[in-house]
Amino acid sequence: MSDDLKQFEAEILANIEAATDEVALEAIRVGVLGKKGTLSERMKTLGKMTPEERQVMGPALNGLKQKISDEISTKSKLLSSAALEARLKSEKVDVTLPTQATPENAGRVHPISQVIDEVTAIFADMGFAIAEGPEVETDYYNFTALNFPEGHPAREMHDTFFFNEKEDGERKLLRTHTSPVQIHTMENQEPPIRIIIPGKTYRCDSDATHTPMFHQLEGLVVDKAANIANLKWVLEEFCKNFFEVPHMNMRFRPSFFPFTEPSLEVDIQCDRSGNEVKFGEGNDWMEILGCGMVHPNVLRSSGLDPEVYQGFAWGIGIDRIAMLKYGMPDLRAFFDADSRWLSHYGFRPLDIPTLFAGISQ
Ligand code: DAH
Repeated sequence: MSDDLKQFEAEILANIEAATDEVALEAIRVGVLGKKGTLSERMKTLGKMTPEERQVMGPALNGLKQKISDEISTKSKLLSSAALEARLKSEKVDVTLPTQATPENAGRVHPISQVIDEVTAIFADMGFAIAEGPEVETDYYNFTALNFPEGHPAREMHDTFFFNEKEDGERKLLRTHTSPVQIHTMENQEPPIRIIIPGKTYRCDSDATHTPMFHQLEGLVVDKAANIANLKWVLEEFCKNFFEVPHMNMRFRPSFFPFTEPSLEVDIQCDRSGNEVKFGEGNDWMEILGCGMVHPNVLRSSGLDPEVYQGFAWGIGIDRIAMLKYGMPDLRAFFDADSRWLSHYGFRPLDIPTLFAGISQ
């Protein structure tokens, strides 16, 4: 091999040796073996040589070409495994690090929404549907149709927010309870009726256990044979499931609501001796809801014949049972929109309450 060719080879091999990454190596390959590469150019000169010269140069150049491409591919393998090694080192993952909070992990469901979902799951399991109605009501639906006589003191007890009187003399109000939805439902639906009505209600009142807007859960069952025994069973099932206890003693005390006759107030058994209240055990009682048999006048004002149909109803303060169940002392915090409070008392959005998987996990 001529000295010139030897030097040519030595240079190329040195370059290959010195290449530090695959991009540089590829540049060398193109520069030598590519269409216009230095070796390719030399191969082109073979045609112009004498046969004797060609006999020597042909195998020399071909041999060199083979050698260089072997060297390049060996070097390429070396570089790519070195690159992989470096990447594995730099992308090392520490599997013991805590995971990043994704939105579905960081977000929280408000306790009111949680309790509404819990209550809905329990009553849906008993065959109840959900009904809703307007929050801006007329005096008729909020009071008159519910058998509150004109001028009756019970109207005053509701601390109603009234709107300004309109020109035609009508004065709308913010509903003071969810009971008007009983009337809307009975007007629009044939019995049998089995509904719960979760919703916002409004009264002019504010302290640690009262806010001007609060939530109620109304229940209504109307058919030909609904009776107080049914009412007691439904409420007992509800309380056991909601407070997640196997037994719940309840006390039904006579009371008064214009829209029910007889009317009852319900206390549940509780133990207040420790730091927190425990339900379903102990010697104490706590009032939890109002209920009764739907008054014949209420059925009548909704277009149902009380000689044919009878029903029972109840009303529960959702905020109150949320406070009781989850030990939240001040109702006003519910509406402060303080994210620290919410991340403490809130619920994980993908833990949906069901009777089979658990109402509150
Ligand atoms: N509407 C009542 C209130 O706001 C609660 C209530 C009591 C609802 C008895 C009822 C019931 O349906 O039967 O104080």
